[in-house]
Amino acid sequence: MAEKYYITTPIYYPSDNLHIGHAYCSTAADTMARFKKMEGYDTFFLTGTDEHGQKIERKAAAKGVTPQAYVDEIVKGIKELWALMDVEYDDFIRTSDERHVKAVQKIFRKLYDQGDIYKGSYEGWYCTPCESFFTELQLKDGCCPDCGRPVEKTCEEAYFFKLNKYQDWLIDYIENHPDFIQPASRKNEMINNFLKPGLQDLCVSRTSIKWGVPVDFDPKHTVYVWLDALTNYINALGYMSDDDSLYRKFWPADLHLVGKEIIRFHTIIWPIILHALGLPLPKQVFGHGWLVLDGMKMSKSLGNVVDPVVLCNRYSSDAIRYFLMREMPFGSDGQFSYEALLNRINADLANDLGNLVSRTVAMVEKYFDGVVPAHGEWQENDRFLIALAESTPAKAKKHMDELQISLSLQDIWQLIGECNRYIDLNTPWVLIKSEEGKERLKTVMYALCECIRIVAVLIAPTMPRTPARIFEQLGLTDDNLKTWDSLKEFGMLPAGIKVKKGEALFPRIDIQKELADIVPTPKVEAPKAEAPKKTAKPEEPAGEGIITIDDFAKVQLRVARIVTAEKVEGSDKLLKFTVKLGASDPQRTVVSGIAKFYTPEEMVDKQVVLVSNLKPAKLRGIKSEGMILCASDEADKVLKLVTVEPGMEDGAAIR
Ligand code: ME8
Repeated sequence: MAEKYYITTPIYYPSDNLHIGHAYCSTAADTMARFKKMEGYDTFFLTGTDEHGQKIERKAAAKGVTPQAYVDEIVKGIKELWALMDVEYDDFIRTSDERHVKAVQKIFRKLYDQGDIYKGSYEGWYCTPCESFFTELQLKDGCCPDCGRPVEKTCEEAYFFKLNKYQDWLIDYIENHPDFIQPASRKNEMINNFLKPGLQDLCVSRTSIKWGVPVDFDPKHTVYVWLDALTNYINALGYMSDDDSLYRKFWPADLHLVGKEIIRFHTIIWPIILHALGLPLPKQVFGHGWLVLDGMKMSKSLGNVVDPVVLCNRYSSDAIRYFLMREMPFGSDGQFSYEALLNRINADLANDLGNLVSRTVAMVEKYFDGVVPAHGEWQENDRFLIALAESTPAKAKKHMDELQISLSLQDIWQLIGECNRYIDLNTPWVLIKSEEGKERLKTVMYALCECIRIVAVLIAPTMPRTPARIFEQLGLTDDNLKTWDSLKEFGMLPAGIKVKKGEALFPRIDIQKELADIVPTPKVEAPKAEAPKKTAKPEEPAGEGIITIDDFAKVQLRVARIVTAEKVEGSDKLLKFTVKLGASDPQRTVVSGIAKFYTPEEMVDKQVVLVSNLKPAKLRGIKSEGMILCASDEADKVLKLVTVEPGMEDGAAIR
């Protein structure tokens, strides 16, 4: 029997324009699910919408419609977006579904009956945008510590969930299951920042919010949205329902894929709920980074969203999926820019992949009347390519299993690059000129067609539409040769099939023209700084050497804390640091030329000033993401770090 694989995305807040950052998470989950399915797993991929809470209640009221009518309309749009992006889920759960509401009520009652939920009264602060409670002490300058927005004072009768009772168990569990929270840096953050300081019991009901799941034995209360939302992962499988066969088959989840800002809910509240219910925990919660625009998380309230519908319609969903999966190292933040997107499309898709397919097919047509020739004896320069073609599936699989989708694509593109080099090395246009050369050319063309078949299979999870177009050009109809299993051996492609030249897989884009065209598109609310650089002329010259406040605003300076420091091997100038910019940011590596002035030991734990939105650069092969500011004399004989006075928190902006 096939092994099962259960993967989930978070359930999304119904927002009338999900942006490309949201699409990142769903595309990654879909890519993983497709990959596992291709490998032969019995997969289940769940997504959905998180519809309850004050935020929706207020938005619906403002529009003069019921919350249900309000979310129904939006959910339609979200489903259309996933269809456009080929996000192929097995189930879409809505927290307003009756199946979900009933299950939440049963779970709440069970926890109450067994004494894990008790009645008390709540006095504190509530952040509506985050749907989170805070104590006075947790507030930052009187505002929400997570999003910085104003909070509202709440005082009401409420039910509480005994989080505190399970705190030690959870610390122990996390310590003993190193794979449970990934990447590992997030695990330390959860333990040190949240669990060790102590958990307070969680307020899990509200009387002032009507749009939620009513507590069935005390209906003036509605269930706290996070308790409601988190249980979707088991409710969708029929937990506690008349038919729980899916639950029995698929739970525990193999992977909850979530953004880094909600890892806390998934690795503290959710495991405790599950444990209290006597259920096993998901095997892994992976906290991915954010797609950022100008160094800031894309979000509607910041007005820096990029619309995936516009992008997919303009460049194809496969191109957008490829960009998202390739550009963002999994677990870290990735920068969105139109230039990066267009460069990827041109370089990787139009040039590397597209040209490989089109010129190979054109050569088979020209030199062999379109019929894929049988190969002769393999020679030394074929063997290298064959060995790479044979080892690429395993390499790509290893990276997929580590959720390093971007590295897995890199493996595939290495094979594509090698194929292109193989053409240049073998010079078919010279070989065709002699009889002996034409014999040799048969082998070369066969090897290329077979590699293209392998590539087409490998890219399918990320780019579900492109393989069919490649197979069509190759003239390959046998479905058995389009599977993961068919990659085990090189040489499965039957000779004698007839290729057929088709349209370019990814037409080349005139980047400058396109940038001028796309950036001002009204649907894409790109911020000013994203405008193409060539047009970014100030209206009035600021004067030589003088910059405007807008120029300065482009440089993001933040307080960073040095976590680790070491010498860069082979360099007497460079030190390599890991620095952190606050609890919600992933740590990053920065290389700095200060080794002659500071030892690694004295740097650790210092707060420095970092240019945090500098384009990453490679120094001695190490990717450096930012620059540490220092003052130095003219002759570079004296150098001192720029720092801030004590008491400033890590990550603070310098303006
Ligand atoms: O958090 N880059 O929903 P949500 C990458 N309903 N990912 C991003 C992103 C960006 N710029 N912006 C958002 C919720 N996301 C809750 C979840 S689960 C029981 C409840 C990701 O619609 C974000 O990190 O605000 C999260 O994983 C997902 O989109 C849904 O966010």
